[in-house]
Amino acid sequence: MVRGGGIDGCHCVADFRELARRRLPGALFHFLEGGADDETTLNSNSRAFDKFQLKHNCLVDVSAVDTSVRILGQRLDWPVLLSPTGMSRFFHPGGELAVARAAAKSGTLFTLSAMATESLEDIAAIDGPKMFQIYVFRDRALTLEFIDRCRAAKYDALCLTVDVPVVGNRERDLKSGMTVPPHLTARSFLEFVSHPGWCLNYLRGPKPTIANVAHKIAEGSRSVSSIAQYTANQFDPSVTWDDAAEMAAAWGGPFAIKGLLSANDARRAAEIGATAIIVSNHGGRQLDGVPAAIDCLGPIVDAVGDRMEVILDSGIRRGTHVLKALAIGADACMIGRPYLYGLAAGGEKGVDRVLAILQAEIVRGLRLLGCPQTRQLDRQHIQLQSEPTLSRAAVSHLPRKR
Ligand code: FNR
Repeated sequence: MVRGGGIDGCHCVADFRELARRRLPGALFHFLEGGADDETTLNSNSRAFDKFQLKHNCLVDVSAVDTSVRILGQRLDWPVLLSPTGMSRFFHPGGELAVARAAAKSGTLFTLSAMATESLEDIAAIDGPKMFQIYVFRDRALTLEFIDRCRAAKYDALCLTVDVPVVGNRERDLKSGMTVPPHLTARSFLEFVSHPGWCLNYLRGPKPTIANVAHKIAEGSRSVSSIAQYTANQFDPSVTWDDAAEMAAAWGGPFAIKGLLSANDARRAAEIGATAIIVSNHGGRQLDGVPAAIDCLGPIVDAVGDRMEVILDSGIRRGTHVLKALAIGADACMIGRPYLYGLAAGGEKGVDRVLAILQAEIVRGLRLLGCPQTRQLDRQHIQLQSEPTLSRAAVSHLPRKR
C-alpha cells in the first residue's frame, strides 16, 4: 500500500483492510473484523486456501476470457456475489446503498441483510440482481412479512441464514465496548476524536438504524438501542428444518440456505427444495473451532453438486481463492469483509475499487492458468499441496556436496 495514497494507493484487499483500520474508530473496526472466541476459525478461513495449489496449462489461447455465471436464476458478469452484512452505515454513511450500487455496476448480485441500515424497498430501487437475507425470527410473522415485502419489491432471491441459533461470542466487541448505537464512554472518547473524518460523517448523516425492523417498535420509543434490543431477542434457538422448508415454500422462488458446512446438511437443503447452499462459517463469527469453509467444500460438492448450486463464502481475499473454490466445484463465491473494507476506506468508490481489483485478479488468474472460462475450471486445475519430494530424513544419509 502506498502511504497516504487513500484508496488509489490500495492494490489488494489487504491494503483496503489496512486503510479501513486507520479510518474507523477501534470499536467499529473490531466489530467489522472480529470473529468468535479465540478466532481460530476466522484465522484459518483464508489460510486454508494455501494447501490447495493451482495447476496451470500452458500454450492455451486465453485472449478472450469469460467469467460470467448463472446463479440463483441470474446471469452475473463474474462469480463473486456480495454476502449480507448488517449495520453498514456505521462504517460509512453511504451504507448498503453504496454497496448495492457498486455491485450493480460491477455486474454482480448484492445481498441485503435483515440487519441492514437501509430499507429493502430503498435498495430495490437500485438496478442489478438482489437477494434479501432473512432469519427465522421468534416472531414468525416478521419473517413472513419480509417475504411478502421482498416479493412486492421484486427481489430475485431469498437467503435464509441458519448458523445463528444464538449470536456468536465476539469478545472484541465486549472488550471494545461496541454497542448499537456506539456509546461514547471516557474510554472510547479518545478513540473517536482521533478519527475526526468518521465522527463528522456520523454526526452529519441520519443516525443508522436497523431499518427493516424499526416499525416493530412503538413510535414514541423507537430509539436505535430499543430496536437493536428487540432484534437481538428475535434469534430463535428452536428453529428446525421444518421452518426452513416452510420459508422456502412461502417464498417459492430461488432460495439459498447460508451457513452449512456438512454434506448431510447439504442433502437436507436439497430435499427441502433449496436452489443453492452457501457453504459458510459466517466468516468465523459464529461457532469457533469449525473448519475453514474451503475445507468443507469438496465433500459438499460431491454430495449435492449435481442437484443444486453450491456457493463458497468465508475467507476469500484474492482472485486465486475464487479460482481454487471454482476448481473444487463451487458455482460461485461470496465475500463479506472485503467489500466492507472498501466501504469504510472510501464509500462507494472504495467498494467499486475492491470489486474491480478482485475481478481483475480473477481474469489475470484465468489467463495464467490457461483456462479461458471460469465455467471450465475443474479439479484438474487443482492439487493438494504435495509433501516435499525429499524429506530431511530422506536426504540426511547422502554424502555432503564437496
Ligand atoms: C456478517 N455476516 C452476516 N451474515 C448474515 O447472514 N447476516 C448478517 O446480518 C451478517 N452480518 C455481518 C456483519 C459483518 C460486519 C460481517 C463481517 C459479517 C457474515 C457474512 O455474510 C459472510 O458470511 C462473511 O462475512 C464471509 O466471510 P468473509 O468474506 O468476511 O471472510
